[in-house]
Amino acid sequence: MKYQQRDMTGQCCLLTGATSGIGKATAMGLVKQGASLTIICRNREKGEALVTELSAQACEPVTLIVADLSSQADIRRAAAQYLDSGKPLHLLINNAGVVNTTRKETVDGIEDTFAVNHLAYFLLTNLLLPIIEESAPARIINVASGAYTFVKNMGLDDLNAKGSYKTFKVYGRSKLGNILFTRELSKRMRSKNITVNCLHPGAVSTSLGTQNGIMGKLLPFLLKPFFRTPEQGAETSLYLALADQLGNTSGRYYSNCKEVKLKSWAQDDAEAAELWQISAQMTGLK
Ligand SMILES: NC(=O)c1ccc[n+]([C@@H]2O[C@H](COP(=O)([O-])OP(=O)(O)OC[C@H]3O[C@@H](n4cnc5c(N)ncnc54)[C@H](OP(=O)(O)O)[C@@H]3O)[C@@H](O)[C@H]2O)c1
Repeated sequence: MKYQQRDMTGQCCLLTGATSGIGKATAMGLVKQGASLTIICRNREKGEALVTELSAQACEPVTLIVADLSSQADIRRAAAQYLDSGKPLHLLINNAGVVNTTRKETVDGIEDTFAVNHLAYFLLTNLLLPIIEESAPARIINVASGAYTFVKNMGLDDLNAKGSYKTFKVYGRSKLGNILFTRELSKRMRSKNITVNCLHPGAVSTSLGTQNGIMGKLLPFLLKPFFRTPEQGAETSLYLALADQLGNTSGRYYSNCKEVKLKSWAQDDAEAAELWQISAQMTGLK
């Protein structure tokens, strides 16, 4: 899609999940547009290799922060490292995500999908809000998914999925969490010149779910011809980041670079407010 792109020179951006798939293509798109990029990756070797690859296209050095986003201590350390750098933050893209076919717990004793896909977005963003507010105008983008339609609510009484574990239900709820978080945060940022939007990237051929044994590897391989490339999958993230005309647009959900109307349960602002309170408790956020 053709649109007027804003000048990203001097714009400081932070992106999670940059080592693969949609995140890697998003990182490439941002540095090509002149942005000053910091990436958060859990694997130092992969992160360093990516910094080298990105730096070949970048006007400014790309910075790496190593953190496992399933660990709240790591998220706090990563946020502190960014805050200590003294850089402003004009664009935060929460992109890292997982799909697990069996239940796993994080070091904090939280179900892994919910921890990485929702709580990490929530905690990292909240910890960085002081610098984002100082740097405004700023944008926050949450990579959600159309998989939110697999469920009809967050299941707030079992966020840890200790009842029956169903992959699509747990993943769908984590992605519904991204949308509800976007809506609540957007309201809270209304008077601060900070926009918050989320998106569905489409069905994209990436590494998502490939850690889940043979089927996890085989399915994406078989589906690859029918799926988008990571570059196509990054188009809506980049649109929300770069489009000039979106400077005042907030609280919306996009797919194919167009706003899409959400199902009623993803517009449930009472559930969004409740999810915020529970997420704050689960992450020890004041
Ligand atoms: N692919 C699709 O069809 C699709 C559709 C809808 C929404 N999405 C969403 O798009 C986003 C990107 O996914 P993708 O498809 O590009 O998948 P991907 O290729 O598997 O990339 C996921 C990224 O997240 C990182 N990550 C995972 N767990 C992490 C952790 N604990 N700490 C730090 N980083 C972690 C991965 O790091 P490593 O490289 O170290 O594994 C990788 O960089 C996700 O939020 C996903 O839910 C994808």
